Amino acid sequence: MNGLLNWIDARFPATKVWNEHFAQYYAPKNFNFWYFFGSLAIVVLVIQIVSGIFLTMHYKPDEMLAFQSVEYIMRDVPGGWFIRYMHSTGASAFFIVIYLHMFRALIYGSYKGPRELVWLIGMAIYLALMAEAFMGYMLPWGQMSFWGAQVIINLFNTVPLIGPELSTWIRGDYVIADATLNRLFALHVAALPLVLVGLIFVHIVALHAVGSNNPDGVDIKKHKDDKGVPLDGIPFHPYYTVKDIVGVSVFLIFFFAVVFFAPEMGGYFLEHANFEPANPLKTPEHIAPVWYFTPFYTVLRAVTLSPFAGTAAMFLAIIMLFLLPWIDKNPIRSWRYRNKAHTINILLFVVAFVILGYLGVKPVTPELKELGTQMTLVYFLFFLVLWIHSKPATAKYIMWFVGLTVAIVAMTFYRYNPEATDDAAQILWQWSLTVGYLALTLLLPGLISAFNTEKDVPERVTG
Ligand code: HEM
Repeated sequence: MNGLLNWIDARFPATKVWNEHFAQYYAPKNFNFWYFFGSLAIVVLVIQIVSGIFLTMHYKPDEMLAFQSVEYIMRDVPGGWFIRYMHSTGASAFFIVIYLHMFRALIYGSYKGPRELVWLIGMAIYLALMAEAFMGYMLPWGQMSFWGAQVIINLFNTVPLIGPELSTWIRGDYVIADATLNRLFALHVAALPLVLVGLIFVHIVALHAVGSNNPDGVDIKKHKDDKGVPLDGIPFHPYYTVKDIVGVSVFLIFFFAVVFFAPEMGGYFLEHANFEPANPLKTPEHIAPVWYFTPFYTVLRAVTLSPFAGTAAMFLAIIMLFLLPWIDKNPIRSWRYRNKAHTINILLFVVAFVILGYLGVKPVTPELKELGTQMTLVYFLFFLVLWIHSKPATAKYIMWFVGLTVAIVAMTFYRYNPEATDDAAQILWQWSLTVGYLALTLLLPGLISAFNTEKDVPERVTG
């Protein structure tokens, strides 16, 4: 074996790469639960690529045959149902894992310097993943595939000046048709997986260049022994490779429990309407995207100033995430040492994001429509409050609270129209949700210093 390794090493830096990225890559010794999700994302990627290759062997990207070919995979191809359910469950699992991975970065400030590029590349991965999932969802050519694509591609219609030409160009036809299915298939099975794999590669290269952050947010490279090894670091292999095996095993138990016992997940992973073939003459009663898109779908529906404003707000909601490293300039990375108001801000952001997601799968009623508007406001205010929290100053907190509350109340008066009776009743009280959010994140730390005290960040990791 040694001889073979030497032979390879003389021609390819196998041992060098292994040492640099595993055996002698020193990761902080205090990684916790939240650090499982990067490697889990790689596991899900592999599941998706392998199951996807087998699905492609039997799937037909043709508007006359696509739906039947999926039924054929489910009923006639040996083990076909298993491969398909792995792939459909994998899509949702990917987003669960990625949302938790991003949440970790949010709470420990991993997007801050020197990891801005790791975060930006991560966001590019997130966008590519959304495009990949959207295109994959078209392929079974069921009712939701068709009408979901109709809604999303029509969004491009709202772009000023070039809208209609742009959406025709994307569809490859005047309506969603065979040409659309064919190109989305090509992008789904070839182009985007290549982009994703490339981006994930540079994501990890960028991370290894600067080193991992950790739950304390302290820089382990500041304290090294005489050999240059960080005192708070342990080699990634064997410590984290073994630890990750435990995480992967637990994850796979949950993953296969869903694949075997609840692959549709009550219509959240596979929507019921998609078990009907696409019918361009019959709009489904209620068009809703799959759960992982719904927070942004609610933002789209909440902003009704003009069709383009809705689309722009939806894209802005994603762009804001790209800007996080420049919005949050507080030098303390981890929420462990930031003030309590910061923790409240993050938790309320998560609540708003989950509510936005829930609203996206529900039909619009006056109550829910207004709730969507208020949660959209909270979503965007989160970034402003994060910026305000960058420099904790009691007087400024109160000033910002008063200013923003006045703005929200003024906006409520502007929107209030007693003739639109149902909406009016909602508008009258729901603004208090957004002001309540501001009270908890700005007024509370402005008035009570216990919510506005930052802790000393330790020199070395604590766990
Ligand atoms: C397929 C998608 C992805 C894969 C395979 C992936 C993989 C990884 C891996 C293996 C790590 C190191 C282990 C860990 O910290 O958990 C990592 C770290 C990181 N990832 Fe990702 N990632 C993906 C998507 C994303 C996304 C969407 C974001 C954010 C927008 C992101 C942001 C980060 C950050 C900031 C770190 C450094 C965390 C720290 O050191 O505390 N990643 N990623």
